[in-house]
Amino acid sequence: MKISSKMKKALNDQVTLEASASNSYLAMASWCEVTGYQGAANYFYAQSDEERTHMLKVVHYLNALGAVAIIPAIKSPGSSYKSLEGLIKTALKNEQIVTAAIHKMVEIAQKEKDHSTYAFLEWFVNEQVQEETKFETILQKFDLLGRDKLGINEIDKFLAVDAAAPSEPAM
Ligand SMILES: [Fe+2]
Ligand SMILES: [Fe+2]
Repeated sequence: MKISSKMKKALNDQVTLEASASNSYLAMASWCEVTGYQGAANYFYAQSDEERTHMLKVVHYLNALGAVAIIPAIKSPGSSYKSLEGLIKTALKNEQIVTAAIHKMVEIAQKEKDHSTYAFLEWFVNEQVQEETKFETILQKFDLLGRDKLGINEIDKFLAVDAAAPSEPAM
């Protein structure tokens, strides 16, 4: 099976996006850890691992088609954040960028009648709905529980529970 050079480029760009997301969540996890948000740290370490599995899915897909994945260099993510809320807002923004990139690829697949890539991308479309909802739900908690020390401590506990729960949907 062959994919177009346009699709190949888009998929390789996605490898970069997923790798960047993994790196950026790793930086967030580390910041949370040193700031004393242990639940949030565990949560973002797990998110970082998840993004790496997303990256690998695309790498394996490209390689299986003989299109050959390009392993990219990743820019250093920011490493200091003003607050846990700000950090989660940044995470949501990143996810929205990833969603837009995936939707763009779906459109290319539709236009090119590339049914295999279209089917491959379906998992990512669903995953992004979950990813955005996840961060929106956490952001809501700042309004519900408050932004004082007690509120943030509750949110950190919520994230600790979430980090311990498996969240990857089955392939
Ligand atoms: Fe991802
Ligand atoms: Fe994600």
